[in-house]
Amino acid sequence: MKHLLKLLDLSGEEIIGILDLADQLKYERRNHIPHKHLEGKSVGLIFQKSSTRTRVSFETGIYQLGGQPLFLSSKDLQIGRGEPVQDTARVLSRYLDGIMIRTFAQQEVEDLAEYGSIPIINGLTDFCHPCQVLADLMTIREHYAKLEGLKLAYIGDGNNMTNSLIVGCLKTGMKISCACPEGYHPDPVVLEFAKGNPDFELTGDPGQAVRDADVVYTDTWASMGQEDEKEARIKAFAGYQVNAELMELANQGAMVQHCLPAYRGQEITDEVFEAHADELFEEAENRLHAQKAVMVALMK
Ligand code: CP
Ligand code: NVA
Repeated sequence: MKHLLKLLDLSGEEIIGILDLADQLKYERRNHIPHKHLEGKSVGLIFQKSSTRTRVSFETGIYQLGGQPLFLSSKDLQIGRGEPVQDTARVLSRYLDGIMIRTFAQQEVEDLAEYGSIPIINGLTDFCHPCQVLADLMTIREHYAKLEGLKLAYIGDGNNMTNSLIVGCLKTGMKISCACPEGYHPDPVVLEFAKGNPDFELTGDPGQAVRDADVVYTDTWASMGQEDEKEARIKAFAGYQVNAELMELANQGAMVQHCLPAYRGQEITDEVFEAHADELFEEAENRLHAQKAVMVALMK
């Protein structure tokens, strides 16, 4: 593994390997066991979109590994004034030991990897959010002590989260059923990947998706960059809310996961959110451990 550009590039074994390392790093952090695997290394964090979790977990994670994080907002970088990503990649490769980037187009992340000579980590694009799904799988495995055979139901917008969840679940032996309205389906590239797999289902019926589900997952109806569509989307996703009634149809004791930020009263009710707050904030914490594992795997 040279980069983390998208989960489609990883094997199931590579994903499980990262989760195992993440568990170990979480144990070490909890027990104050030093794990400075990136001593003397500098990692650039390029953000073209907002972030709370990704920024803070990467910055603190790099520090805990003995390295130096550099927060690079595209507002300040020359990339924001039109310097090509191909040139930025070659320049930054001369200073840094790795780059995490959050941006719009997946192609920009792929270009950074192609033109640069250091590991590139995708911190979210319009296409996918691999770091988040590694943390999600880690959280689910902690809860159930396995992944194989579990069923995840995804309710709502077929977005970057859905794309990564489909790939992450199927590669680790989970079943995934997505309930997305017409016009808001996952990316065709991911649907092609999942095509014919008996562990995958795409439906327009949230009730059907959550049947026998061990994990119920949702995300915002309007992702970053879709702010103008917010009103139309609220209408399109009526009936796709994760609420107590829908949870009744899932397995008893099913987990709830959400990448956050959550919009209570839209994709999830306050009642369901608060009833599952421990699981949701464990998931948020696991961003730290999962990403540290990715960086160690790529940069040590
Ligand atoms: N889940 C997630 O990536 O959160 P941020 O947008 O706050 O980084
Ligand atoms: N789908 C959301 C995820 C945020 C972490 C977005 O892209 O805004």
